[in-house]
Amino acid sequence: MSHLRAVPAAPGSPGRHSSPASVRVEAPGKVNLYLSCGAPGPDGYHPLVTVFQAVRLIERVTARRQSADAVGRITISLEEPDPRVPLDGSNLAVRAARLLAEHTGVTEGVDLLVRKRVPVAGGMAGGSADAAGALLACNTLWGTGLDSEELMCLAARLGADVPFPLAGFTALGHGRGDSLSPLMSRGRFTWVFALAKWGLSTPAVFARFDELVADGRLPGGPRGAEPVPVPEALTAALRTGDVAGVAAGLHNDLQAAALSLRPELESVIATAERAGALRAIVSGSGPTVAALVTDAGAAVVARALEGLPGVVGTVRADAPVAGARVVR
Ligand code: C5P
Repeated sequence: MSHLRAVPAAPGSPGRHSSPASVRVEAPGKVNLYLSCGAPGPDGYHPLVTVFQAVRLIERVTARRQSADAVGRITISLEEPDPRVPLDGSNLAVRAARLLAEHTGVTEGVDLLVRKRVPVAGGMAGGSADAAGALLACNTLWGTGLDSEELMCLAARLGADVPFPLAGFTALGHGRGDSLSPLMSRGRFTWVFALAKWGLSTPAVFARFDELVADGRLPGGPRGAEPVPVPEALTAALRTGDVAGVAAGLHNDLQAAALSLRPELESVIATAERAGALRAIVSGSGPTVAALVTDAGAAVVARALEGLPGVVGTVRADAPVAGARVVR
């Protein structure tokens, strides 16, 4: 992916050996336009075929050099505190910085500061975007100079959804969802996301998917071991900017599992579509519901969703947008 440069050499910016005091990176959340899931392998992971689209819900990760007495530690704080986000070594952005430090032999540590805009535990890869942002920010701060391919490899070791926020735009994911190739997409898409009060655990959703398959209760009939390739109609609609065609092609194998764990999401989807959304689906492993809308219809859909008991709010975002990048 040649648009990705790990260490942009902006005119007048510090070079590899004259280190900046802080580096700020922006990284997007995602929605899955298509997600097909095969049977889990011996490692418990499911082979996926998925289409990611990066949305303008942008996480901001600032990596700051530490004072002399703190050197060697990796810390994280949030611009707006949120009790749902761990601030210890289990945080994916902290793990990303640690992995990069171990991989490159850096010992100097970093203070990470994150401003969150992607719903937490919402199936939109907010934590993965933070990790992708931390990789790029620390790579720049520390002058470690890994190229985009090396960053992608580290990202894949952190989690299946971490490579995509580095790449951004629209991409086909296979393997665990971490093996990416860019997909051509024309035009702009507008989404209204319905945010749920409680997050859903990704492993729990995949486990319920397995139960539904085993019981023959997954919509669409019996499943093979392999995920189903992306229908040509969807890639063609993306190529030509045919929003109605993309709406018709939206599909998520994990939706039935998310609905079975959170039955109230069914009425969120139905309400969005009744209010004029072109389509609405569960985003990734949920519980966020993603409604694809027209610009003119966005406000009506948002208002209808905000009245629902299980919905704590809505957020509107356009897509696709670029992957993680260093900003001034
Ligand atoms: O890779 P990541 O840590 O994001 O995955 C979280 C969990 O989601 C995994 O532990 C696994 O239970 C499930 N998963 C899966 N198949 C995938 C991706 C994730 O079963 N392709």
